[in-house]
Amino acid sequence: PRPLAVETAKASSTASLGITQRPRRNRKAEWSRRLVRENTLTVDDLIWPLFVIEGTGRREPIASMPGVERLSVDEIVRDAERAARLGIPAISFFPYTDPALRDPTGSESLNRDNLVCRAVRAVKKAVPEIGVMTDVALDPYTSHGHDGLIQDGAILNDETVALLVEQSLIQAEAGTDIIAPSDMMDGRVGAIRVGLDKAGFRDVQIMAYAAKYASAFYGPFRDAIGTSAALVGDKRTYQMDPGNSAEALREVALDIEEGADSVMVKPGLPYLDIIRRVKDAFGVPTFAYQVSGEYAMIQAAALNGWLDGDRAMTESLLAFKRAGADGILTYFAPRVAERLRDGI
Ligand code: PBG
Repeated sequence: PRPLAVETAKASSTASLGITQRPRRNRKAEWSRRLVRENTLTVDDLIWPLFVIEGTGRREPIASMPGVERLSVDEIVRDAERAARLGIPAISFFPYTDPALRDPTGSESLNRDNLVCRAVRAVKKAVPEIGVMTDVALDPYTSHGHDGLIQDGAILNDETVALLVEQSLIQAEAGTDIIAPSDMMDGRVGAIRVGLDKAGFRDVQIMAYAAKYASAFYGPFRDAIGTSAALVGDKRTYQMDPGNSAEALREVALDIEEGADSVMVKPGLPYLDIIRRVKDAFGVPTFAYQVSGEYAMIQAAALNGWLDGDRAMTESLLAFKRAGADGILTYFAPRVAERLRDGI
């Protein structure tokens, strides 16, 4: 048998395609791949969503989101300090409301001492340099798990918006930096902007969940905030139909007109085309939410040894940048920030 090396060398000298363009030349070594890379992920791109629960010293695992916990307010402060040390620009809060406090109108959302307000005050006091974002919607507070008031089985729009304005004011008073309405009621961004301005909160930003789809990928989140068991029906009369994309542009246009400082597309990975269209059409700060189900899919496969979790995490986040996102809300934020810090 002839030695393989000789055979290979002979093949390369004789079998030339006669091409001058060889894209592989730029890929031949890591230094070169780094030089020609079009998009990169940095810690500046991250917003870290956290779940708040009653108590002290409490860190409670969430079964469908391995690695994510519900945290009492004191533990939230510790994670906020960790985020700041890692250079993560902003964190966001979602409450697990005591079921006894949930009612049909979500009245706990208007309690100045609810979990979210306490978390905001504690973090703004201990870690003033970090950006704090709070979700505005009724679902963590309603007994039926919907984002709005219900009458005769229908979600009421304008009546809900009035409550969302109140909720926004309470969060602004607590010291939040960014109000993020995730409810998908019509006209809420404008109403919230007017409400904030009238009350003197001109510098509180609004990040609109502008194109939010009625998605199966929110499942683990609903476990995390304890609404999955309660939720009656689905959210398809207010969240968007997954088949639509021109409609996403109309939603974004409205939210910008109404005063949104930035817009969000949600879920993330299945909707990269929407991120690209929004960014190209409007050029405004555009965010993606890599939602709970996306996180759970990667974690589940990684824990089974079916894929390399760290690489899948990084690749999925880089994909958002390539699609045009300016930033990403992701439960992977601290893990990816550590890897970026360590240069992995
Ligand atoms: C609710 C809200 C949801 C999420 C953020 N805010 C769920 C829903 O609309 O039912 C989902 C986040 C995630 O899945 O990670 N207003």
